[in-house]
Amino acid sequence: MDFQLTEEHLAVQAVAREFAQSELLPGVIERDEHQKFPAEQIRKMGELGFLGMMVDPRYGGGGMDTISYVLAMEEISKIDASASVVMSVNNSLVCWGLEKYGTEEQKQKYLPRLATGEIIGAFCLSEPEAGSDATSQHTTAIEMDDHYLLNGTKNWITNGSTASVYLVMAQTHPEKKHHGINAFIVERDVEGFVVGKKENKLGIRGSDTHSLMFTDVKVPKENRIGDDGFGFKFAMSTLAGGRIGIAAQALGIASGAYELALKYSKERKAFGVEIARHQAIQFKLADMATNIEAARLLCLKAAFHKDTQQDYSTSGAMAKLFASKVAMETTVEAVQVHGGYGFVKEYHVERLMRDAKITQIYEGTSEIQKIVISRELLK
Ligand code: CAA
Repeated sequence: MDFQLTEEHLAVQAVAREFAQSELLPGVIERDEHQKFPAEQIRKMGELGFLGMMVDPRYGGGGMDTISYVLAMEEISKIDASASVVMSVNNSLVCWGLEKYGTEEQKQKYLPRLATGEIIGAFCLSEPEAGSDATSQHTTAIEMDDHYLLNGTKNWITNGSTASVYLVMAQTHPEKKHHGINAFIVERDVEGFVVGKKENKLGIRGSDTHSLMFTDVKVPKENRIGDDGFGFKFAMSTLAGGRIGIAAQALGIASGAYELALKYSKERKAFGVEIARHQAIQFKLADMATNIEAARLLCLKAAFHKDTQQDYSTSGAMAKLFASKVAMETTVEAVQVHGGYGFVKEYHVERLMRDAKITQIYEGTSEIQKIVISRELLK
């Protein structure tokens, strides 16, 4: 077993770290405060290849492995989890889903622009009454002559107002339950499609999260992804990889908070010495560093499973379950190390603490990850 990263991996990590410091750090507090989407920064991330990292170069992507993606996600998330969720959804859910299951025409048409960030995509599964219970899709796609007629509402959609391409799950044959669900590519400017209200969120406030309404939207038949009834498996399979990305996001939030706490503890003096010389702080730092290292190993193992064509549903769920818990715990402790300064915005850790919470909720709550893991254990 080799725990060394390759030269290529280290190079990707270094570029992501430098980009996060120079381009994402300035203005991150203001973007969070004013819920401002990092449009210019996302455009630059596209130019650097961060929005289609694993896409085959034939379709304009970076042709990189999942380990590179995890490393980049960690670095970007240390500084700006709002930018990294855009990156994660575009890479893992939209580009990967299209490249794996799309037709050649669909890939040619959409992937080159998505992979370079010329446009971004959104993944639309959740509904007002179908979050964790994703099989209960109320959005319908009725089959007509040469198209499907799409009706329904999607909720909590990342990139809701900024995307140009939406992968939308909908029920075509209700009597077949999840086997009746289809996945469709829906373009933004179609008639009957309306972007609804923007959510005012606790964390990742720079990302745009919206409800979406579809009223008699005509979707050409050639925009269906996979065979009739493949939509739920498409969603589950795509989310299994997405969970590795969110695990890496949680890892980055945790390691970002830890690095800030470590630095602060060596600068701040109390009772005559730097607070890092107090055992109360040392124990916190030791716990944070150990948990982060364990989370990192789980993320890299799941990425390795994906890169080597092994099953990664369980390892990805474990990585997400654990890394998101570590993100929550570490950020709370990082605020504690900072004391009163941790409670104000200038020191960044309060934002990281707010951002951490969503990693236990989206792309499957922690409880959903436990369902995925325990089913594998008990089968
Ligand atoms: N790959 C391929 N197929 C899979 C799969 C996977 N990883 N996991 C399950 N399936 C298949 C199963 O094989 C099964 O197929 P058959 O019926 O043909 O055998 C089918 O999917 C149904 O599977 P289950 O019986 O396990 O389904 P279930 O109803 O019991 O639900 C669940 C399982 C794990 C709870 C699932 O509903 C789930 O993951 N829910 C959470 C949904 C979720 O993560 N939503 C996130 C929204 S997207 C988001 O957050 C993105 C964003 O904007 C940031």
